Amino acid sequence: MVQKKDIDWGSLGFAYMHTDYSYVSNYKDGAWDEGGLTPDHTVTLSECAGLLHYCQEVFEGLKAYTTKDGDIVCFRPDQNAERMYNSAERICMPPFPKERFVRAVEEVVRANAAYVPPFGSGATLYVRPFMFATGDVIGVKPADEYQFRILVTPVGPYYKGGVHPVKLQVSKYDRAAPHGTGNIKAGLNYAMSLYPSVEAHSKGYADNMFLDPKTRTYVEESGGANILFVKEDGTLVVPQSFTDSILPSVTRRSLVDVAEKMLGMKVEQRPVKFQEILDDEFVEAGMCGTAAVISPVGEVDTDEVHYVFKSGMENVGPTMKKLRETLTGIQSGEIEDRF
Ligand code: COI
Repeated sequence: MVQKKDIDWGSLGFAYMHTDYSYVSNYKDGAWDEGGLTPDHTVTLSECAGLLHYCQEVFEGLKAYTTKDGDIVCFRPDQNAERMYNSAERICMPPFPKERFVRAVEEVVRANAAYVPPFGSGATLYVRPFMFATGDVIGVKPADEYQFRILVTPVGPYYKGGVHPVKLQVSKYDRAAPHGTGNIKAGLNYAMSLYPSVEAHSKGYADNMFLDPKTRTYVEESGGANILFVKEDGTLVVPQSFTDSILPSVTRRSLVDVAEKMLGMKVEQRPVKFQEILDDEFVEAGMCGTAAVISPVGEVDTDEVHYVFKSGMENVGPTMKKLRETLTGIQSGEIEDRF
């Protein structure tokens, strides 16, 4: 078993640190090269690279864990490979082949095994595959050269202070246009969310709740994660979009499986009106994603209303707790992944 690095795993936040290797592959003359590991964590670009002008960039996020037995496991990298494939196609980038994506994740995680936090430390190795246009473009069009990279970095909890209820504000801004790019993982969507996110943080909110851009009636997602609700009878409610503006989260998909198939819960996947929150339809809420895992939401505010869920700001609600424990148990290999 590899000797782990001397890192204070328990005090890690969600931040970047260098590890030993990244993975890199370049696309030129219509093909991806063989690719491989690199100790170089820098990227040198032409000043005219498509990335810098027309934002041709997509990315993924997944995690690697050390199991109780000391093995290293990744959670469902094939689903990230598929989503990145779809993201790339949507903004006219040559998709990185899915099998190669999974193999590259395995290779770079294995090469950085000393940085995969030990079992029970509360930290994980965050794996960030991304690809961007390196070719020159000055007119608005897709570039013809690209780079695919994977960086890895050990991380702690995404939201400060670990797993405790946070407050969201309903954003006055939109994250994604109807039938735009909200359903792919493109950096440009996150640029859109930065101004509202800085504003939310300055007011003491952990994140924004974005409503549907067309009617501002339905719940979509937060800046960095999908949103979930729990009804009094224990039903899990997962917001869906009429306008393709919610990112299909791998964690959310897994939670739906866990809820239905392992915990015997009822699941509703449907558009959710913001008004349903105010009408006390839900007793618990949470955000879910690779980075967020499941982060409980205790309160959601507009200028007019401060709504506190029944689970409150002090405790994690029982259903969110159960879902989180089951999911993290599967992710770290303690509970058998049957799906
Ligand atoms: C993730 O959950 O992996 C994300 O990419 C969300 C955020 C950190 C951008």
